[in-house]
Formats: sequence, structure tokens, C-alpha cells
Amino acid sequence: MKKLRVLGIETSCDETGIAIYDAEQGLLSHALYSQIELHAAYGGVVPELASRDHVRRIVPLIHQVLHESHTHYQQIDGIAYTAGPGLIGALLVGVAVGRSLAWTWQIPAVAVHHMEGHLLAPMLETPAPSFPFVALLVSGGHTQLIEVTAIGQYKLLGESLDDAAGEAFDKVAKLLGLGYPGGPALARLATQGNSNTYHFPRPMINRPGLDFSFSGLKTFALNTWQNSAQDDQTKADIAKAFEDAVIDTLLIKCRRALQQTQLTTLVIAGGVSANQQLRQRLATLNSEMGITVYYPRPEFCTDNGAMIAYAGYVHLANGESSPLGFRAYPRWALSS
Ligand code: KG4
Ligand code: ZN
Repeated sequence: MKKLRVLGIETSCDETGIAIYDAEQGLLSHALYSQIELHAAYGGVVPELASRDHVRRIVPLIHQVLHESHTHYQQIDGIAYTAGPGLIGALLVGVAVGRSLAWTWQIPAVAVHHMEGHLLAPMLETPAPSFPFVALLVSGGHTQLIEVTAIGQYKLLGESLDDAAGEAFDKVAKLLGLGYPGGPALARLATQGNSNTYHFPRPMINRPGLDFSFSGLKTFALNTWQNSAQDDQTKADIAKAFEDAVIDTLLIKCRRALQQTQLTTLVIAGGVSANQQLRQRLATLNSEMGITVYYPRPEFCTDNGAMIAYAGYVHLANGESSPLGFRAYPRWALSS
């Protein structure tokens, strides 16, 4: 294996993530600064504040991971930075720092697709999944089923036609007054809820195909809340009914994707893959269909630098690198 140590930079949204991945030793160090507190007062990410905060955090975090991994900058052989999709101002911070360091240190740098980072995050675990597999990417911005035959071979099987699963979690949490980002809070509240009080629809399961639609669930939650006693137990019951509906829908489409592709490995990644209930339900695919399911560790489900360092390492090891210009892609399709 060729010597290769990669610095990864993630700044696509509201988390500054930096990591160092080494070809022989694996992940050496990683650090994350979350801007949650900064945006909480506004009920969502304020893009300009996000960009400015990345500027403040990025260099100290790079120093931190170099220090923690006992890496001198001259031992870095390549740089990986998220170039999209995401918030343009936030992305440009990571792109500019990544490209500038690569130029100064005279090493190659590669632009990484944020969702490819999520998709490859389970590769940082032991055992890692092997190709081919079906990937369910469930984040705040995307819900996609992808057939993965090799690195870079990503066939989109289906995706959300409106809100992403994480976005739906966040919006329902907001209308229940759970703050920002609401996904994890809603999942916590759902553990207090009763499954039988409300039944939410499972959108698009009666249509063929592998696309999703989650925006109707948000309206359903709003109507249910407005016509309820609006007490704490109702909140928990709505959280539970909503979570059940999202998870059931994801499970039905995963089953369908696995049957359609005849594959037996499922990888799930992205922020919503941290959801414990989802993980428990997906585990049943093993006894039911002989499917093996792989996840990243919870801290690598949400945005982080480690997944970008790893994805960049894979591309750099393959001899790929990106040109000198600062290019960021707020919208960027992962697959064919
Ligand atoms: O992957 P990620 O950090 O950022 C994007 O690339 O979008 O995903 C963040 C999303 C948010 O919508 C958040 O509410 C959701 O993942 N999320 C969860 C949980 N943890 C994070 N949703 C449901 N249950 C969770 N435990
Ligand atoms: Zn993400």
C-alpha cells in the first residue's frame, strides 16, 4: 500500500469537521465544531453566520488534528475538501482553505462530494461493507437509495420528491416546539409516545418505484396537533406516530430496492441513520431476508471531517485530484 496521509475538511453546512486519515494506520484524528448553539436562536441555519463561523474555527481545528495525530504538516500527502452540495458561502471556506494549503504545501487536493462522504462513512468501521451494496442516504438535505457497485459507480434508484427525511424530522419537531435541530429531540420524545394513539400515512408505498415523499407527513402532523388536546402526552404520541411512519416507509423502500437489485448488503448513512429506532427496525431485515446492514458509528452519521478525509483518500489513492481553481457546487448530483 502506498504511503498516503490525507487531511479532510468539511464545511458544507453548520459543522466544521477536520480529520486526518492514513493509508496504513486508518483514521488518526478528527475534530468537530458544531454551530448548533449559534443558529438555535434563529430556529435554523443562518448561512452568513455559518460561513463566518467556519472562518473562525477552521484553522484552529486543523492545528488541533495535526497536533493530536503527531503529524507535521510535511507528512500530509494530500487534501480532501467538501466542494458540494451545501451552502455556497460555507463550502467556499473549506474549498479556499483546502486549495490554499495544497498550493502552499505543494501537494494534490481533491474536491469531495458531501454525500459520497456520507456513503463511504461505514468504511471507517470494522467490519466494513464490501461492494456491491444498496445505500440508503438519509440526511437533512437528501433521502436517496443508491446502488453502489464500486467507488464512483453510483446508480440512483430513488429519492425524495420533496422534503428529505431529516428535514421532515426537523420541521415536525419545530411545530411541536422542540427547537433546532429537532430530529434527535423528536426521536427522544418518541420513546415516551404511544404507537396506537395516531396512525400517520406511509407515503407512496402503493406506487411502484423507489421514490419518497415526506412533506405530507408534516402537514398531517400539524393537523393532528391542531385538533388535539395539545398536552405533553399528545406531543409524544405525535412524535411516535410520525417516526413510525417515516421508518416504515424507509423500510418498505429498502426491502424493495434489495429485491430489485438482488443485493444482500445494505448500508445506511447520513444524520437520520443515527436514529436508534430506524437501526432496530432495519436489523430485522437480517432474519427476514438475510440482509447484512452496515452503519457508521453515531458520531459519523452526522456531518464530520473523517468521512471526507476517507473519501478523499480513496480518490487520491486512485491518482485523482482537482484543478487549482476555487470551485464549489451548491447543487451537485452524486449519481448517474
Ligand atoms: O447528515 P447530516 O448531519 O447533515 C446533512 O447533510 O443534512 O444530517 C442532519 C439531519 C438533521 O435533519 C437531523 O435532524 C437529522 O439528521 N438527525 C436525526 C437524528 N439525528 C440527526 N433524525 C432522526 N433521528 C435522529 N436520531
Ligand atoms: Zn451531511
